[in-house]
Amino acid sequence: MPLSSDHPLLDGRTGQSALVRAYRGERPEVTPVWFMRQAGRSLPEYREIRVGNAMLDACLTPELASEITLQPVRRHRVDAAIFFSDIVIPVKLAGIDVEIVPGRGPVIANPIRSASDVAALRPIDPAALDPIRKAVALTVAQLGTTPLIGFAGAPFTLASYLVEGGPSKDQQRARTMMYSDPQSWAMLLNWCADVSGEFLKAQVEAGASAAQLFDSWVGSLSEQQYVRRVAPHSKRALSHLRGLDVPKVHFGVGSGEVLKAMHDIGADVMGVDWRIPLDEASRRLGGDVPLQGNIDPALLGAPRHILEAHVRDVMDRGLSAPSHVVNLGHGVPPDTDPDVLSHIVGLVHGD
Ligand code: CP3
Repeated sequence: MPLSSDHPLLDGRTGQSALVRAYRGERPEVTPVWFMRQAGRSLPEYREIRVGNAMLDACLTPELASEITLQPVRRHRVDAAIFFSDIVIPVKLAGIDVEIVPGRGPVIANPIRSASDVAALRPIDPAALDPIRKAVALTVAQLGTTPLIGFAGAPFTLASYLVEGGPSKDQQRARTMMYSDPQSWAMLLNWCADVSGEFLKAQVEAGASAAQLFDSWVGSLSEQQYVRRVAPHSKRALSHLRGLDVPKVHFGVGSGEVLKAMHDIGADVMGVDWRIPLDEASRRLGGDVPLQGNIDPALLGAPRHILEAHVRDVMDRGLSAPSHVVNLGHGVPPDTDPDVLSHIVGLVHGD
């Protein structure tokens, strides 16, 4: 089913925005900028609104999720909103007992480790996604010409949480399962692809103008294992957007070795972390892929002149790609001074 004619991308609201144009490979007059994890703990207004609301409850309360999504757009004048939610939301909506423990991350009550655990997984009920559709609709109604980016976790990152039971340094249990029980692994990743894919599709249908797949822990894989055991499932996640013509961004941390393979699953734009310069990323991708990134989050706490020189260097290197959306190389650290983010926006926009 194509996008409806009153979708922001088609009805004149976001189709000509700097973000969407850059994602499509054009170079708008002003370079667009937004920040991964811009909605969150770096903002006092976020901390205030979250008092008394558990993270995943906030994600599933449409009015709250919408307000939190809008906060960084108002404050920083970024060129995009990213939907306030979490990669584990579709897993929760499919019946998995998960919560987000502050300072730690997603914790799964009963980790998925055996063939029978995988066989017991159930698909997501489409009605369970109603709070997501509602939050997106509320948000785009207020965003006007600023596009909303929808997102989902890629199957490998999601499966890593499910198998490990929580955050882990190198996803060792998950990778052991990948080698020792490839069949259960493939079933688990297909399930993750389908719940993430439906979550993403719900956001796009309800009004998101772009979609970003986060494979945060992809850096723990070799290229060979990525191509063989992960990429087909990431492609399957994006296949849920078939017929919905929105730009698709693919981002991973430590993805230098797999950048090309991550693009090959059907991404239009590659998000790059801070470990490789954008000109090198562009070279690895053949020079014709729009890029997003890659300010080192560590520099947000550096003296202004050092940060500014780094941002200019990132923008210069971004000229080696057909187009560039400025972002960080990973999420905003919680202790970031929000004024620093607003300052970067001004610098990128040339205000
Ligand atoms: O502004 C945005 O980017 C939109 C919101 C967003 C959140 N999570 C909100 C959030 C997005 C896009 C995510 C994606 C996400 N969640 C990823 C992929 C991106 C990445 O950072 O690599 C991952 C791996 C997760 C899983 C997750 N959720 C982690 C590791 C954590 C941090 C735990 C902690 O407390 O340090 C979370 C919690 C989370 N997700 C918070 C927010 C604002 C903080 C929780 C809080 O405010 O109490």
